[in-house]
Amino acid sequence: MANKIEFENVTVKFNKRWLALDNVSFTVQKGDFVFLVGPTGAGKTTVLRLIYGDIMPDQGEVRIDGFPLKKISKARLLELRTKMGIVFQDLMLLDDRSVFENLAFPVRLKGDEDLMRRVVSTLKDVGLTHKSNELVKSLSRGEQQRLALARAMINEPEILLADEPFSNLHKTDIDWLIEKMNNYNELGLTVVLSTHNFEVIPRVPRARVLSIEEGRITLEH
Ligand SMILES: Nc1ncnc2c1ncn2[C@@H]1O[C@H](COP(=O)(O)OP(=O)(O)OP(=O)(O)O)[C@@H](O)[C@H]1O
Ligand SMILES: [Mg+2]
Repeated sequence: MANKIEFENVTVKFNKRWLALDNVSFTVQKGDFVFLVGPTGAGKTTVLRLIYGDIMPDQGEVRIDGFPLKKISKARLLELRTKMGIVFQDLMLLDDRSVFENLAFPVRLKGDEDLMRRVVSTLKDVGLTHKSNELVKSLSRGEQQRLALARAMINEPEILLADEPFSNLHKTDIDWLIEKMNNYNELGLTVVLSTHNFEVIPRVPRARVLSIEEGRITLEH
């Protein structure tokens, strides 16, 4: 299970002095759609990295389903991450591999026998079936973003984390992406998404918004 995300008085200092997050507390419930908004350097990526246990707080606790990540074993953390789909700010796709291979890789890691079926259905879901054999570097930015979403979703996560998924996209691609994430959320997926793009917020009427500035939550609704 990976449902409830809790931050309690979380402080992160990079290199022991740069205060990236300052006493941040909030809770994300199962099925929530949360926009993390704030200017560059505010701490959005840091929040997402804490959720998937890539970094640990210097003070305070991050808990998933009540369990503090600081106390989690490496094995249990890897297991927890299989419940999370992550779309990274810089996508982190394998540029010299095909679309198909980029999707098959995370599924194979999980030892899924029905690999082909999963990849085919996920490609269809994001409208990339016709690009299956193309190299990632030949795709448009919008197509790459769809692929990054597909890779995040292929193991059927409970939580989707997306870091600035709308940057460098055309409006039609932004419209498609927010609608897709909205649909996943309606089916029960928890979504935590960072963005500079305020225009997308009204597209998810039930979404919550957490504004972060200089490492502090300045507005929550
Ligand atoms: N590994 C690191 N080492 C040192 N400082 C860091 C590190 N990662 C982030 N920071 C600093 O912490 C602060 C928060 O960074 P973070 O990446 O979370 O911001 P962000 O809100 O995601 O910004 P952006 O909108 O530009 O992606 C920034 O001032 C950043 O320079
Ligand atoms: Mg960032």
